[in-house]
Amino acid sequence: MHNYRTVKCDLLIIGSGAAGLRSAIEAHDGGVKDLIVIGKCKKGDAHTVLATGGINAALGTMDPKDSWLIHAADTLREGGHIADYREVETLCKNAPDAVEELVRWGARFHTEKDGRLTQRFFGAHTYRRTCFYGDQTGKEIMRVLIKQVERRRIRFLGDIFIFSLLKDAGTISGAIGIDFQKGEMVVFNAKSVILAAGGYSKLYSRSSSRSYENHGDGAALAFEAGVDLVGMEMVQFHPTGMVYPKSAQGTLVTEAVRGEGGILLNAKGERFMRKYDPGHMELGPRDLVARSIYLEIMKGNGTKHGGVWLDITGIPKAKILDRLPKMYAQFKELVGLDISKEKMEVAPTAHYTMGGVDVSLKGATKIKGLFAVGETVGQIHGANRLGGNSLLETVVFGKIVGEEAARFAKGCKMQAISPDYIGKKMMQVVGYFGRDQVDIEKLRSRLQASIWKHAGIARDAKSLKAGLSDLKSIRAEFDRVRVRGEFKGNLHLKMALEMGKMLDLCEVLLQSALARKESRCAHYRTDYPKRDDRRWKVNIIASKLNGGIVLKKRKVPAVKGKLNDALKAVEKTEHKLLE
Ligand code: FUM
Repeated sequence: MHNYRTVKCDLLIIGSGAAGLRSAIEAHDGGVKDLIVIGKCKKGDAHTVLATGGINAALGTMDPKDSWLIHAADTLREGGHIADYREVETLCKNAPDAVEELVRWGARFHTEKDGRLTQRFFGAHTYRRTCFYGDQTGKEIMRVLIKQVERRRIRFLGDIFIFSLLKDAGTISGAIGIDFQKGEMVVFNAKSVILAAGGYSKLYSRSSSRSYENHGDGAALAFEAGVDLVGMEMVQFHPTGMVYPKSAQGTLVTEAVRGEGGILLNAKGERFMRKYDPGHMELGPRDLVARSIYLEIMKGNGTKHGGVWLDITGIPKAKILDRLPKMYAQFKELVGLDISKEKMEVAPTAHYTMGGVDVSLKGATKIKGLFAVGETVGQIHGANRLGGNSLLETVVFGKIVGEEAARFAKGCKMQAISPDYIGKKMMQVVGYFGRDQVDIEKLRSRLQASIWKHAGIARDAKSLKAGLSDLKSIRAEFDRVRVRGEFKGNLHLKMALEMGKMLDLCEVLLQSALARKESRCAHYRTDYPKRDDRRWKVNIIASKLNGGIVLKKRKVPAVKGKLNDALKAVEKTEHKLLE
């Protein structure tokens, strides 16, 4: 057996983005001082820093008619009516307090001359309700959360990859991982664990995530441990990612560009959104704008690099520099383009995953003491997520889940972990060492390209089945992957551990997408182009059984009371469905 170090704590938080940090703060304030946040990246470099456009709250600072009910109704409609309305209620009701708390903690959101918070339009919102810090809102939120974490002296450990959860019967006992900085195996023995490890958009070759994040670690860890996943077929393709240079392909071009007045044009110079959503134009729902761009490209109306134009040259440069400084710098540095004078080339990119771990309304999983929060969780956004609701989710549910996990940790005893059990878990890692037979980097790229091709923005039974058969052959190759060297800084080992999990998630994604025989928001089936509420107003739950995957349907609870009235009102402006 390998040497390992054991670290004991009351609460272990896996993931150091905004959801993990906000949970940590609440758990600490709820009386759990012995807690550790771990990340696979360096402190402060979690994916949240890439969240650009903003955070939603119905504050009504610009549009006084806004209310949490309309925000919730927009969220449910955008989610294709399969989000759980109770979670959406929690999200939207708590949004104003969450944003005000961030301001109290020092977040420098944009304000009007009279001090009101500025709120910008984002796609498919009835009113302007997205608060922002230029186009670096996620980074700003991370800054203030880190300050709060440091003030509380909460422990942070970076560069650690957790490869398995540890449990005793139905109760969590901790997690096991590799500390790539120190080069050793670590066993965390904890009373309670929160998974806050992001989503799985990096299963796709073109994604707005960086190479080292969002491989679906959180969902895969939970699934391996016997927790169900929900809605895994629901992947959000953001309409506007960069198309070149190749190294930057997929990088996010924030929706705020359109929120501030940017327009989309095809290669012929036509403002094509007139055809697809004349009511909302560029600010329609994300799925619809992304599909419209995709269709224009398919029809041969794409630009030289395979995108469409995004044009903000009609906006004064001073405003661009004030509201979109990151975009300005990004195009200047990567493409040598001045976006105040020239058009950007953009195309859809895998951006956010609505599926994930199946949790209770307060983030509990079916393993006692194991919780999940943030993008790791499924169902809150149904079949599509409103722009600006993701940062919101991290802080609203981070607070709730942190409190719940702390309550659990305070009320239970630490489970012991036997050396035999640890030894068995270690075999997962030891088995990877040997003579290299397969190039892990190439194999991973092959997997990501296959998922992009077979389960992308448009899918059908043929492509999904081809994806499954491709997956089988990639799995066979993966069985021959071996790595060399030691633990310390071993990138190939990290990739291999990630890839084992990616393969499992790809299978759930492909099978769920194949099972849902309809089109609903982000899930667009060309062989079933219509929404089918009679059969499919449900969520697909994936469970692990005897080494295989079992899918079942779960009904969505009916929306009640005033929220139902608000939903009916916003539905009157229903968007045109593409066919
Ligand atoms: O376009 C954006 O700025 C993305 C925001 C979001 O996904 O919430």
